[in-house]
Formats: sequence, structure tokens, C-alpha cells
Amino acid sequence: MSVAGKHIVLTGASSGIGESAALRLAELGARLCLVARREPELLRVRDAVLEAGGEADIYPADLSDQEAVGALAQRLLDEQPRIDVLINNAGRSIRRPVAESLDRFHDYTRTMQLNYFAPVQLTLALLPRFYAQGAGHIINVSSMAALIPTPRFSAYTGSKCALDGFSRTLAAEHVGRGIAVTTINYPLVKTPMTAPTRIYRYLPQMDRRKAAEWMVEAIARRPVRMTTYTGRTWGTATAALPGPTVRATGRIFRTVGEALRRRAERDSQA
Ligand SMILES: NC(=O)c1ccc[n+]([C@@H]2O[C@H](COP(=O)([O-])OP(=O)(O)OC[C@H]3O[C@@H](n4cnc5c(N)ncnc54)[C@H](OP(=O)(O)O)[C@@H]3O)[C@@H](O)[C@H]2O)c1
Repeated sequence: MSVAGKHIVLTGASSGIGESAALRLAELGARLCLVARREPELLRVRDAVLEAGGEADIYPADLSDQEAVGALAQRLLDEQPRIDVLINNAGRSIRRPVAESLDRFHDYTRTMQLNYFAPVQLTLALLPRFYAQGAGHIINVSSMAALIPTPRFSAYTGSKCALDGFSRTLAAEHVGRGIAVTTINYPLVKTPMTAPTRIYRYLPQMDRRKAAEWMVEAIARRPVRMTTYTGRTWGTATAALPGPTVRATGRIFRTVGEALRRRAERDSQA
């Protein structure tokens, strides 16, 4: 397996997609550096990795703090003789319409810090190691929201679009240099991130173990982008026909969203 023996730095490893990916990659023989804020959760994931016969070190760090990201990068470089893959998976989502965000500029700065600046800062810090090795792979975890118009997610979508733009340029600049860059635009995935939103229970959600398999595939094939058929088609329509796509999507989100909210209300009263 192309995952076996790889040294992988995985952020957001304490929960959701990252936790499932840690376990799956360990099963396939990867050696992991697990990053997130909550040390007890990282220890729990590391114990599960060890139980599955894998190897992992934990690196508790708050990626919303630039100094902490710098210190994390230095620790990784000092302690890990080899790093093959950096998976920028840690992230946060904020679901709030712009009209209700007028006094919430901090929503925009905090999503940018965690979803965009932290991956960029880690990438810049680890690239010299990839250059020295003559090989490396950066996987940036994004969302289908970055491909299509997504009402209520302006802060989140802005940060993921920034990450997609950075990834695309990074990929183009490293063609032929042994360094690959993959962007994964996931659809809805059932994780603690989506759990608080009641209407999501009526929508299809990818199982997080399948999301973890996408990471395995990303490491094996090193594609520039991975998304669903819907993401590709809707994304292509958005790029080719932005006016009609934005108008249709806005109406669909409003109509379907209202119907699902009514249904959730009825179910909670039943
Ligand atoms: N779930 C979806 O529907 C979906 C769809 C598309 C894309 N995505 C993306 O997939 C990635 C993983 O999301 P998920 O659904 O698995 O969410 P999740 O279960 O909430 O996990 C988020 C992870 O990020 C870590 N994290 C959050 N804030 C952090 C911080 N300040 N510093 C360090 N680590 C931090 C969390 O760990 P700690 O709390 O321990 O720090 C946790 O491990 C995110 O980038 C998300 O945007 C998710």
C-alpha cells in the first residue's frame, strides 16, 4: 500500500473525519503525528491507533494562535526525521446569514485564522523539509461550499475558497518537483461539526469512514482535487453560468431550508 511507512502530520485528529482518518491510515501502516487542541481526545485516538498496531505521536496545539502554529511546526521539524504528508484537516464552520453577521466581523477573522492562515503557515514551515527530501504531499481539506453558492456560510466559504486558491497556486508552482497538492472538497459528512444543525438529519451525509477512505485515496493517487459528482457538476455550472446558478441555488436553499426547518419543528414537538 502506498500509505504504509508514510510519516503523516494530521491536524484535526481528535474528532470527526480526522479521527476516522487517523485510525484508517494507522491500519494501513502510516506513522502519524496527531494535532488538535484537546489532549485527552488526542490520547484517546492515539491509544486506538496503538491498539490497531499503528504508531502515533500527539501534538496538542491551538491552530487559531499563530505563535502556537509556529511552535508546533518547529517541534515537528525537530522531532520528526521525515515528513511525507501534511493533512490540513482541522477546521471550524459557522452557519449564519450575512444579515445576522453585521456585528460579527470576528466570525470572518476566526474562520480565516483556523481554516486558511493555519494551513498556510504550516505549509510554509514544512515546505523546506519537502524540498530537502525532494518529495512531499500537502492535502488541504476544503468543502463543496467552496465550489458552489452556499447561503448562510459566508465566513466558512470565504476561508475555504482562500484555501482552495492557495492550494491551486501551490500545486501549479510545484509541478515536476516531487511535491503534490490535493484539495478535498467534501460534501456534508456526519461528524460532531454537523451534529448541532437539526435540518442536516434530513439530508444525505457521507459516513466519516468513507471520508477517511478519500484521504487514503488522496495519498495513493495524489490528485489535484477530489469531490463528488454533484460537487463537480454544480461547481462547473457555477463557473460557467454564475448568474443563473446563483439565482437558482439561492431559491432552492430558501425553499428547501424552510421546508426542512418546519419538519424539524414538527418532529421536535411530536
Ligand atoms: N463535516 C462536514 O460536513 C464537512 C464538510 C466539508 C468539509 N469539512 C471539513 O472537514 C474538516 C474536519 O471537520 P469535521 O467535520 O471532522 O469536524 P469536527 O469533528 O468538528 O473536527 C474538527 C477538528 O478540528 C480540530 N480543531 C478545531 N479547532 C481547532 C483549533 N483551534 N486548533 C487545533 N485544532 C482545532 C478539532 O479538535 P479540537 O477541538 O480538539 O481542537 C477537531 O479535531 C474541517 O476542515 C471541515 O471544514 C467538513
